[in-house]
Amino acid sequence: MSTTKTSAPQKREGFSSRKVFIFAAIGSAVGLGNIWRFPYVAYDNGGGAFMIPYLVALLTAGLPFLFFDYVIGHRARASSPLAFRRLNRKTEFIGWWHMGINFIIAIYYAAILAWAARYLFYSFDHAWGDDPQTFLFSEVLQVADPAGLTFDFVPGILIPIVVIWVLLAVIMSLGVQKGVGLANLFFIPVLIIMFIVLVGYSLTLNGAMTGLDALFTPDWGALTKPEVWVAAYGQIFFSLSIGFGIMITYASYLKNKTDLTGTGAVVGFANSSFELLAGIGVFAALGFMATAAGTSVSEVATSGIGLAFIAFPTIISQAPGGTFIGVLFFGSLLFAGFTSMISIIEVIVAGVEDKFNLGRVRSTLFVIAPIALISTVLMATTSGLYVLDILDNFVNQFGILAAGLVSIIVVAYLLRGLPILRNHLNERSSWRMGRLWMLLLAVITPIILGYSLINTFMGLMKEPYGGYPDQMLNIFGWGMVIALLVAAVILSMLPWSKTSRAALTPPAPPISGGKVVHDHVDATVKNVTAQGGK
Ligand code: ALA
Repeated sequence: MSTTKTSAPQKREGFSSRKVFIFAAIGSAVGLGNIWRFPYVAYDNGGGAFMIPYLVALLTAGLPFLFFDYVIGHRARASSPLAFRRLNRKTEFIGWWHMGINFIIAIYYAAILAWAARYLFYSFDHAWGDDPQTFLFSEVLQVADPAGLTFDFVPGILIPIVVIWVLLAVIMSLGVQKGVGLANLFFIPVLIIMFIVLVGYSLTLNGAMTGLDALFTPDWGALTKPEVWVAAYGQIFFSLSIGFGIMITYASYLKNKTDLTGTGAVVGFANSSFELLAGIGVFAALGFMATAAGTSVSEVATSGIGLAFIAFPTIISQAPGGTFIGVLFFGSLLFAGFTSMISIIEVIVAGVEDKFNLGRVRSTLFVIAPIALISTVLMATTSGLYVLDILDNFVNQFGILAAGLVSIIVVAYLLRGLPILRNHLNERSSWRMGRLWMLLLAVITPIILGYSLINTFMGLMKEPYGGYPDQMLNIFGWGMVIALLVAAVILSMLPWSKTSRAALTPPAPPISGGKVVHDHVDATVKNVTAQGGK
């Protein structure tokens, strides 16, 4: 290969320190899942008693899977498709599947950020008046009635969504350290301060303790219900950003001698602490709302869009210092979501960089231009809310869980690769993983993921999701889930270009049947490794 000298990939970028990685990983983990999902999931699944399944899920699946993601990325020093290819050529499709999942999440996550940005400004003049619900659906989103696909644009969403995409394009083009790393070093401390102030202030509101009582009063009976345990494991997967390529990608940017498990433990506990803080802040505010309306917390407790864009505006209008609460709440939502969004896009950009060797700026534009276009066309229209809800439900309930299940089964049973991955972890980590780590990954995690998938599937067979028209569910729900898998398989079969990082710089030999396979490393590859990739 005489051209290798000129076409060798540029040196692979990474995070400058473990600290930058920790900020970026916390930035990814702390997102909408923490602020608007956790409080209600906890409340709805046993209140105080939910902390038991939650902690069990964190320790038996969350942290073990986080380390699994870390070691796959770190060992291969590559994006998800290439990392899986480096385990075994036939498992590359899992990485493309991850990229597809992130592609879908990016489409709708951008819309939620756009709404949060608008509401940040609305907090100053309480633009929603006395009826935040009608304001959200009729004025802000101009939701189509009846539900169905439309291409009528809503300018109020179009502008912020374009701004979000432009900002992302700038940050991502700057690269791993100067873009992703520095953005997180800035946003995460600001987020933490804003959020602590918000929670502290919420606790001073009249009725705050009623809210906390509602959240933490344990319903011990909940512990006997399988769905409560499924909810705990589902929350941990989404919230820790595990099982869909993000942590694989981020860990691939760590230096060789990094304490992987110690770092993972810091990230995991920081994420859970933020979640708990969010539960306290949100329920203190809901306690105020219920007390002001003379009703019970159960009447006002809600999650997701209802919590952020209907309940909080109500609280902002009624509470003393409402504007202050609004700025802190929507600012936190925006920052937490934006740093998660950076990690979601990074998975795709890294994959494109590895595959096509385009360089950072061109890879970023190549990725962001089509996603931004699709996101704008689908989300900034009067049917955006419906599409968002369907994509979100199906990609989370099936995409992430199924990809997690397949990846662990392939690595643990088909490649029998866990011992090799464990060695990699233990050679550089303070917290050494024993056989228990492999047992949790190979037995407990697949049982939980498999059970959750079957459970959800049966539920959706009985009752179609959200009462949407079949056509919409078939395109954006089932169709999307199947398309992701098919696209992943097709993409994994396309040959890698001769100048791609895959062709030129494999630092970690593939594993198969628990053995490391060395014989593919030919002279050319060694040459290029020496001068190019890490
Ligand atoms: N982990 C991110 C969240 O919680 C995706 O929203």
